[in-house]
Amino acid sequence: MTLYDKIKSIQDNFNSELSSVTDKSLSAELLYNKYLGRKGLVSSLYSELGKINNLEKPKAGEKINSLKNFLEEKLKKANIKSEKKSNKDSSIDLTLPGNHFLEGSIHPITQVMNDISSIFKNIGFSIFSGDEVEDEFYNFEALNIPKYHPARDMQDTYYLNNDKLLRTHTSASQIHFMENNTPPIKIISPGRVYRNEDISVRSYCLFHQIEGLYVDKNVSFADLKGLLEYFSKKYFGEDVKVRFRPSYFPFTEPSAEMDIYWGLESESDYRITKGTGWLEILGCGMVDPEVFKAVEYDSSLKGYAFGIGIERIAMLKYGITDIRLLYEGDVRFLRQF
Ligand code: DAH
Repeated sequence: MTLYDKIKSIQDNFNSELSSVTDKSLSAELLYNKYLGRKGLVSSLYSELGKINNLEKPKAGEKINSLKNFLEEKLKKANIKSEKKSNKDSSIDLTLPGNHFLEGSIHPITQVMNDISSIFKNIGFSIFSGDEVEDEFYNFEALNIPKYHPARDMQDTYYLNNDKLLRTHTSASQIHFMENNTPPIKIISPGRVYRNEDISVRSYCLFHQIEGLYVDKNVSFADLKGLLEYFSKKYFGEDVKVRFRPSYFPFTEPSAEMDIYWGLESESDYRITKGTGWLEILGCGMVDPEVFKAVEYDSSLKGYAFGIGIERIAMLKYGITDIRLLYEGDVRFLRQF
């Protein structure tokens, strides 16, 4: 029997069975299941579709669809529905309160990191994740931070043993990436960093940064400024005001810090910005030739780098006044995001 014959005979059988349905409550369910149920005749027709030739498929499919519509229409007219749809005396009490499912949410730090990362990803930066455990070479030496530099002090850095330490900044990722790749390089590296600091409303023993690195033949400080201004507009809005201040980092020359204008209207603005209205959100600069030397790069290369502090941005964005809330995992706090 061809598929079409089957369709025809199912339709005929159905018509005659439907006209003989007398006791509706008894046979209605059976009839529905026999033809339209999950393992019913119509559904077996659909599984046969797979076996027929591709050219025929659309036509055959259409025929089965119209048989299905026909059966549904008829059963509807005869007021016959599947048990699922019509069971009036079911034991489900619709007036009972529903189950409450607790939904998780993305941690505000992760949200900020994702938002910032996607701005850079959209303009061609790829993501590189470095390790949190580093040695002195990657965290300090290769970044031109000499042995006697105060940042190396036990007071500032968590040492795991004589050599291994918890990275104090994501800048260490720059070195790993340059060691294993050749320019042009265009990466960001988000992650967690650790510093041995007194814990307070404003500082914690760990925090997050997003490092950026761009290395190529012709890279200028103007490119760096342009990029960071672009990022600020994308993230804080077109009207954001930014300023660059000269600064010092051993691994960049010249170096700068970038502030955004926060405002000076309320007492808390005054407190957050230490009375200036401006807030520092990142450090940046042109990669120091000493850094290129450490990774054995050609000295004619140029590059810029930047490191964005995530916590400060998250606190600003969500109006969080105590940094410790970000790490305590208190669901009453986290549920607000
Ligand atoms: N590593 C610096 C810090 O933790 C931030 C930084 C400054 C990163 C300048 C950079 C940079 O890449 O160019 O304070």
